[in-house]
Amino acid sequence: MASVETVGVVGAGVMGRGVTIALRQAGFSVILVDRTEEILEGVQRTIAQDARLYTLLSPKTAITGDEVLAGTRLHTDLDAVAKADLVIENATERFTVKRPIYQRLGELVAPGTPIGVNTSAIPITRLGGLTGRPEDVIGTHFMNPVPLKPTVEVIRGRRTSEETIGRMREFVDALGKKSVLVNDSPGFVTNRVMMLTVNEAVFLLHEGVGTAEDIDRLFVECFGHTMGPLETADLIGLDTVLLSIEVLHDEFKDSKYRPCPLLTSMVDAGLHGRKSGRGFFDYEGRGK
Ligand SMILES: NC(=O)c1ccc[n+]([C@@H]2O[C@H](COP(=O)([O-])OP(=O)(O)OC[C@H]3O[C@@H](n4cnc5c(N)ncnc54)[C@H](O)[C@@H]3O)[C@@H](O)[C@H]2O)c1
Repeated sequence: MASVETVGVVGAGVMGRGVTIALRQAGFSVILVDRTEEILEGVQRTIAQDARLYTLLSPKTAITGDEVLAGTRLHTDLDAVAKADLVIENATERFTVKRPIYQRLGELVAPGTPIGVNTSAIPITRLGGLTGRPEDVIGTHFMNPVPLKPTVEVIRGRRTSEETIGRMREFVDALGKKSVLVNDSPGFVTNRVMMLTVNEAVFLLHEGVGTAEDIDRLFVECFGHTMGPLETADLIGLDTVLLSIEVLHDEFKDSKYRPCPLLTSMVDAGLHGRKSGRGFFDYEGRGK
């Protein structure tokens, strides 16, 4: 698209890395920011592994870790995104983590620069309000793994401008993806349903109604889903699932969103799914 060449990516976890690889596949330059040098060193290794995996699964968009990193500048200072033409924020799913980022982004990037919020459930309107320029802030809910998923849920905050919506949808097109536009509501369309389903599947396991394998098999073999809800939770990260369901619980004040105690306990135990090597299933030795 016309003016976007460099994209600022905030947060280099599961989503920030996936977004970075997808951006590099589409030829954009990236400024990738996370909190510490140590995290950024780990990110370089993980990006190389991820790029190999995505190349294997989708040879048409083959890219090497070196090609991703050659066009990616890594920083620990958020101010590095000041020169970006567009920003995608992917920091931890906690309002207290995102709040200072949005306050600073509002001061940093040039007015009119679209700021995409990649959150699972936090209202876009609330984050937009922190910037002092809510018209530039828009939800861009990428699906995981980003390089393999064809569609992005784009969310119109209450004050997002039509121009920002148009520019972001054009950008998503340039990434080779489609967009579906919805209005702001906690969890949007996808996660309001998805997080409940995942949490309910954890309750089924907690209550001994079925094993993890059998619960997931029913979704795959009876409903034709690519993976069951528990494997999906492992892919998302159980810490992120818990934070997301807690956001929905806080926002709607509805007990249907109370997190299953087994989910909380697994997060306490460091069983975060694929990214930690174990969750409902074991990933040790089979790549993450
Ligand atoms: N995991 C998924 O499947 C998924 C899908 C769509 C959206 N999301 C959303 O994307 C966001 C990121 O999720 P994730 O799964 O990548 O989480 P993650 O825990 O894997 O990564 C979060 C990253 O943010 C970094 N971070 C924290 N504070 C920061 C700061 N001040 N500046 C820069 N970086 C900071 C952390 O160090 C970490 O590397 C969340 O809001 C989540 O809800 C996740």
